[in-house]
Amino acid sequence: MIVLGIETSCDETAAAVVRNGCDTLSNVVFSQAARHAPFGGVVPDIAARCHVETLPDVIEHAVRESGVEWDALDTVAATYGPGLSSSLLIGVSAAKGLALRLGKPFCAINHLHAHLYSPFMSAGPAAFERACPFVALIVSGGHTVLVHVSGLGRYRVLGRTLDDAAGEALDKAAMLLGLGYPGGPVVQRAGEGGDARRIRFPRARPGADNPFLKGLRADCSFSFSGLKTALLYYMKEHPFANEADRADRLPSIAASYQEAVVAALVDRCDRALGPDATALACGGGVSLNARLRAALTGLARKKSVPLYLAEPAYCGDNAAMVAALAGVGQGRRGPETMDLDANPVLDVSEF
Ligand code: KG4
Ligand code: ZN
Repeated sequence: MIVLGIETSCDETAAAVVRNGCDTLSNVVFSQAARHAPFGGVVPDIAARCHVETLPDVIEHAVRESGVEWDALDTVAATYGPGLSSSLLIGVSAAKGLALRLGKPFCAINHLHAHLYSPFMSAGPAAFERACPFVALIVSGGHTVLVHVSGLGRYRVLGRTLDDAAGEALDKAAMLLGLGYPGGPVVQRAGEGGDARRIRFPRARPGADNPFLKGLRADCSFSFSGLKTALLYYMKEHPFANEADRADRLPSIAASYQEAVVAALVDRCDRALGPDATALACGGGVSLNARLRAALTGLARKKSVPLYLAEPAYCGDNAAMVAALAGVGQGRRGPETMDLDANPVLDVSEF
């Protein structure tokens, strides 16, 4: 089963060819980060225009690099949600058009399900099933969600962020500190050598009576909006006096802030890992974070469960995880899928 996957849900324009859900033959990602950097976040109009400009080349490149002939592709898959509506539409339309032209089926993939599969990209679907039941943390610029996974396609949301995603919290902090965009990597770099215990930023957890929980577990849910406000007030009260002062204090501020994000993520994973879960998995752009990877490794050791971390190439948005998931029979397919629209608010519980 050879699948061409397309991913345009946010600001990465990506295409990949994957065989049998684990053999990545090509994985091309064009990051638009530089185009959005001046604005400190993704600008939907710019993202959509950029996808239109680059997607044809990215697809060509992915197919050429894979060494697979167009005719040998079995399926064309694309992320159809969640994400930015105008961005999703471009990938979905391209995939439908290609599928028609090649006479192959189109398969529509839930982006969150692709992230759930991403820690098993090299090991494959049998390893995914063997790891079940497990708790998965998807943590990116747009999503922070904890899911109980009992099999491929068998997902139960335990909790999620009620406001900002963890990556968004890092992106906003980076903007406040004048570090650039995307925030995760620059906050990590700025915090190197800093004292993560210098400033105690809040580690907020939604209360059990929070009406936005809508049946989800409070102890598996997140709230990051207070964290950036805490940083804002901290910087108002303790502004940098000069460049030397900035050079002196910035590492500890960045490290302390990152620590608050990581501590919240790890605490909720700890609470989610009950007797009905025998492993922990993590994927999404923020799972690139070295401190988070180390802290999750520590948690897994404490709980005596195996840890499955997405490999760096599959952490951020990529099309290989989309192609892989379609290649193991997941996703929506069949003639009616050709009429399926992009769904910007698609939930983990939906297919
Ligand atoms: O998965 P992704 O590429 O796109 C979304 O679906 O959002 O994740 C992007 C997010 C950004 O917020 C970025 O700041 C964060 O991942 N990120 C990191 C690191 N690298 C990227 N966060 C923490 N540490 C990193 N090293
Ligand atoms: Zn993503």
